[in-house]
Amino acid sequence: MAEFDVVVIGAGPGGYVAAIRCAQLGLSVACVDDWKNQQGKPTLGGTCLNVGCIPSKALLESSENFERVSHDFAAHGISATGVQLDVAKMVARKDKIVTDFTSGIGQLFKKNKVSSLQGRATLLGRDGETWRVAVVGGEELRARHVIIATGSTPRVLPQAPLDAVQIVDNSGALAFTEVPKRLAIIGAGVIGLELGSVWRRLGSEVTILEAAPAFMPAADDQVAKEALRAFGKQGLKIHLGVQIDKVTQNKKEVFISWKDAQGAAQELLADKLIVAVGRVPNTDGLGAKEAGLKLDAAGRIEVDDHCRSNLPNVYAVGDVVRGPMLAHKASEEGVMVAEIIAGQAGHCDLNLVPWVMYASPEIAWVGKTEQQLKKDGVAYKAGQFPFMANGRARALGDTMGFVKILADAGSDRILGVHIIGAMASELIQQAVLAMSFSASSEDLARTIHAHPSLSEVIHEAALAVDKRTIHI
Ligand code: FAD
Ligand code: NAI
Repeated sequence: MAEFDVVVIGAGPGGYVAAIRCAQLGLSVACVDDWKNQQGKPTLGGTCLNVGCIPSKALLESSENFERVSHDFAAHGISATGVQLDVAKMVARKDKIVTDFTSGIGQLFKKNKVSSLQGRATLLGRDGETWRVAVVGGEELRARHVIIATGSTPRVLPQAPLDAVQIVDNSGALAFTEVPKRLAIIGAGVIGLELGSVWRRLGSEVTILEAAPAFMPAADDQVAKEALRAFGKQGLKIHLGVQIDKVTQNKKEVFISWKDAQGAAQELLADKLIVAVGRVPNTDGLGAKEAGLKLDAAGRIEVDDHCRSNLPNVYAVGDVVRGPMLAHKASEEGVMVAEIIAGQAGHCDLNLVPWVMYASPEIAWVGKTEQQLKKDGVAYKAGQFPFMANGRARALGDTMGFVKILADAGSDRILGVHIIGAMASELIQQAVLAMSFSASSEDLARTIHAHPSLSEVIHEAALAVDKRTIHI
């Protein structure tokens, strides 16, 4: 029976980062993971590396290049004829990136002396101060501390059972072998919009059916409005407030019967259907109930601000607990827990987790939205600046969108930053950093920004909070 200071269950971005940080801090650590790829081979990295963040961004980049060369280069005086699309090569490139990264985690484990085990782990119970963890197909492990990072799985829609060929979740949608002519998507969330953008750019007619009456309700209202307009202009057909009644299929097509926001019956025919209606926490096979691990009403492991569960020395991080289902949030929680176990003061501020959607336009935000501040009765000032008035954005030929900064009316402390436009995913980090140091909008306004750069839009938005933009 192998004994460790810490056993980590799950090797996604929550688990593998926690394991490495534990090892860095001198703790002996084993990380158990049961992921197998489509070829049935064990791979590390969980959802994020295998079928999430990394493969989706690889395809987003490839499809953006295709769209640029097909449509956008002409404005630069560059003409390209006979542009060909090789989907198999595009998907193979994506797969290679995934393999490089997943095998890289194995190397990081070796370098840090993390014992990596394959198999499903179950919490068996506690002998004195020591937890016992069973690993299917392997030996029993013993550890004083357990970190659960078992992630999430796609939520199932009973009306639309997956067949992994015509009706797929994110895994299937990242592995289409050809461009579907008509692509239907249920759910206008992050996956629906990102993967819808990939296949639209490659030539699919994309229709998205969304149950909620509002588009992107978690985003700032003004950003959501601008995004809906932009997606519509690109040709994404988005229907809000729908009800999915029935999904049937034959070998060629998928038939979706649905009701529109007015309650009128509608039908949609598609070659492929992606179901992306959210994700559910994964506690399957963990032995949570038997071990007395408390779950909340949504099935997530209940934890406090430091990711402590109700069981002594059992922590849980990432998608399996409250908070946004994002890779960087999972990793930061993993670091926090490792540091707490090692006797340090770990910390992870969920108010400072940035959100990014990698469609075009990119959308990113951190902190409060304007509607949240209004609801909470917080007095605030807003400053906004468009990419259209920025030299670098003009040079890129990517001028849609804006940056909006919300600051406390009294103290001027930045409360939220919202970006829709070019490289929002990179620009947002400036805002996260500023807010991590409790910066005011004046601090940002007094920071020297390189010219010409997209980051100047943030600078001008900060100036706009004090009504003193220079370039408008
Ligand atoms: P996971 O990555 O889900 O890893 C959990 C691991 O635990 C898995 O390997 C699983 O097999 C294993 N496991 C589960 N139960 C057991 C058990 N009992 N025993 C052993 N092993 C077990 N987030 C971002 O921040 N940016 C993005 O761009 C982004 N893009 C995404 C795109 C898509 C298509 C999807 C689906 C998700 C995306 N996400 C993105 C979300 C991100 O993937 C998750 O938030 C992140 O993977 C959560 O990390 P985790 O470690 O909590 O869980
Ligand atoms: P989501 O929660 O973002 O969106 C799901 C959408 O489906 C919601 O808009 C919801 O109203 C809708 N929906 C639910 N039931 C429905 C029904 N019956 N009919 C029609 N619509 C319905 O979830 P999604 O897109 O599945 O992604 C899961 C999670 O993965 C995200 O919440 C996010 O945390 C993570 N992710 C993050 C990315 C990023 O950071 N760039 C990219 C992709 C995923």
